[in-house]
Amino acid sequence: MRFINKISALFMTVIGLNMCVYIGIIIIYDTIFSNTRCKIQTEINTVFHNGDQGKEIIGIPSEEILRNLNLEQLYLWYQRYVTTLQTFCALPKRFGSTAYGGFRICADEKFAVELGCAIHSYNFTLSALFESQVKAKYNCTIQNHGYLPYFTTAELMKRIYASDHQSILILRIDHNDFVYLCYLFYNIRNMNIRQLILEIHYHRRDETKERYMNLLAALRALRRSDCVIYWYERNWEFHSRTDPTRTNCFTVNFICSAKAVLKYRSLLDPTNVLIDQMDKASNEKIVSKYFNRHQTFCKQVRRMGKIIDGGWDICNDTQYRPKTPCLVYSFGINDDFSFDEAMEKYYGCDVYSFDPSMNIGNHNHSKNVHFYQIGLGDKEKEIFVEQTNSTWKFKTLKTIIKELGHTNRRIDILKMDIEGDEKESLPQMMASGALRNVSQLCLEFHSFYEIATIKKLYQFGFRIFWSHQNPLSPLYFQNETFSHGNEVSFVNTNIS
Ligand SMILES: *[C@@H]1O[C@H](CO)[C@@H](O)[C@H](O)[C@H]1NC(C)=O
Ligand SMILES: *[C@@H]1O[C@H](CO)[C@@H](O)[C@H](O)[C@H]1NC(C)=O
Ligand SMILES: *[C@@H]1O[C@H](CO)[C@@H](O)[C@H](O)[C@H]1NC(C)=O
Ligand SMILES: *[C@@H]1O[C@H](CO)[C@@H](O)[C@H](O)[C@H]1NC(C)=O
Ligand SMILES: *[C@@H]1O[C@H](CO)[C@@H](O)[C@H](O)[C@H]1NC(C)=O
Ligand SMILES: *[C@@H]1O[C@H](CO)[C@@H](O)[C@H](O)[C@H]1NC(C)=O
Ligand SMILES: *[C@@H]1O[C@H](CO)[C@@H](O)[C@H](O)[C@H]1NC(C)=O
Repeated sequence: MRFINKISALFMTVIGLNMCVYIGIIIIYDTIFSNTRCKIQTEINTVFHNGDQGKEIIGIPSEEILRNLNLEQLYLWYQRYVTTLQTFCALPKRFGSTAYGGFRICADEKFAVELGCAIHSYNFTLSALFESQVKAKYNCTIQNHGYLPYFTTAELMKRIYASDHQSILILRIDHNDFVYLCYLFYNIRNMNIRQLILEIHYHRRDETKERYMNLLAALRALRRSDCVIYWYERNWEFHSRTDPTRTNCFTVNFICSAKAVLKYRSLLDPTNVLIDQMDKASNEKIVSKYFNRHQTFCKQVRRMGKIIDGGWDICNDTQYRPKTPCLVYSFGINDDFSFDEAMEKYYGCDVYSFDPSMNIGNHNHSKNVHFYQIGLGDKEKEIFVEQTNSTWKFKTLKTIIKELGHTNRRIDILKMDIEGDEKESLPQMMASGALRNVSQLCLEFHSFYEIATIKKLYQFGFRIFWSHQNPLSPLYFQNETFSHGNEVSFVNTNIS
């Protein structure tokens, strides 16, 4: 196959002397292959057998089924597919900026690229920061292929075939472009591509059923070529203006290797190496590194609330999925109830929202979202705060649970974004035992490194399944990218 592709690429180079013919041939070539290869009618499923956690199936149905869906259903299918991880990468390491322009590359030993790899980027000029960081770690060469009007799949494939190095391919594409890329995706298994990063742009005003069908067909082609998703990003820079819980751009990261599929179980051995390192040198870099290493595999990572600051990532896998009657505690609202509203809407949870800093008293925000003007503290206390000219009341988690009559209930999600107060309240929550009945914990750490607390969370059974670096407070340190703010999501492995 690879040989045939080289021949056909060569064939086109010769013809390429005449640009018009060249373009014509390529369009015919792309169209024939995309239409014949992508429109395979069979369903493809990714089935996860995750021990006693049961079976989860996230697939792309046949064309026939897709054709009967409406636009919204197609969008939801697409969204659900790209936000469901298919293999476990413990270290999706950020290279380049924490904001738009940086990318994650799986740096797990089993999936990492070899030294001297090639990074091909199509329709995206990689930044100097990204380039210097991958050079420092992998000695990769960078090939920015740009985007020319006549530059299509066949030309891109020709260039990738021409390099003998293991490569990472980065494609910035519009969902319009998938019909051309399908052929490339079907042939990826014959190319020396180790990782693939797709930055998929689409805009709701451009949506058509045809485009979604092409996009889903192309994703199906990738799955058939054994490219599996290990990470995705909802690019907040492109969040929808009309609906802040949606993004117009997902970046989806794949590992392309047959061996990657369903082999994650052997990787699920959370290492404590970093904890030991932290004992010796507890600096912010090591703590940030610790937060960015995933310790357990959650496949369905779902954003609740806004794409930008205010929303939170939770795990929707069977074992950890909020169960009715479900209970959510949300500390730190800052006038943004989008997370709380989403938990009410998607799971029907009873949500208790707390914030002492908002100039508003106890009230019901909606049917199931109850607001209390108190803060989470390490003890009962009242503090006069000059900036707001008011007295803030604090209570411990244990007291709050007791006063609300939730002593015997499981707390499905506890969210804490309390601007540094986590430093005092977390140890108290563990000491009092109140944290034991919490199933998922979403925490924003603010330049905070109380190593004893981090270790204790681990001992309590809390494992990191997702982490998000605050893009607005980057920490660039010796050719590596970190952040001063880390939003970390944990599941409690001692609860089921
Ligand atoms: C890095 O790659 C270049 C070729 O691109 C090679 O000449 C050089 O020796 C490599 N350096 C290391 C440290 O591997
Ligand atoms: C290049 O990327 C832009 C998004 O920034 C997209 O609109 C365009 O369609 C892409 N071009 C191609 C040929 O993929
Ligand atoms: C959670 O998973 C279940 C089962 O796959 C699915 O029906 C539900 O829509 C998911 N919820 C969200 C918010 O994705
Ligand atoms: C808030 O809702 C609860 C029941 O969900 C109800 O008992 C309580 O009276 C309501 N509070 C206010 C201030 O309406
Ligand atoms: C602070 O609030 C009190 C009443 O609660 C009021 O008398 C006082 O003028 C306020 N001070 C300022 C600086 O706004
Ligand atoms: C945790 O929940 C269980 C019931 O699910 C209950 O028996 C136990 O008392 C609770 N523990 C705490 C500390 O609230
Ligand atoms: C960072 O990378 C540059 C070149 O890419 C190299 O010269 C420098 O030594 C690296 N610094 C560290 C701390 O690794």
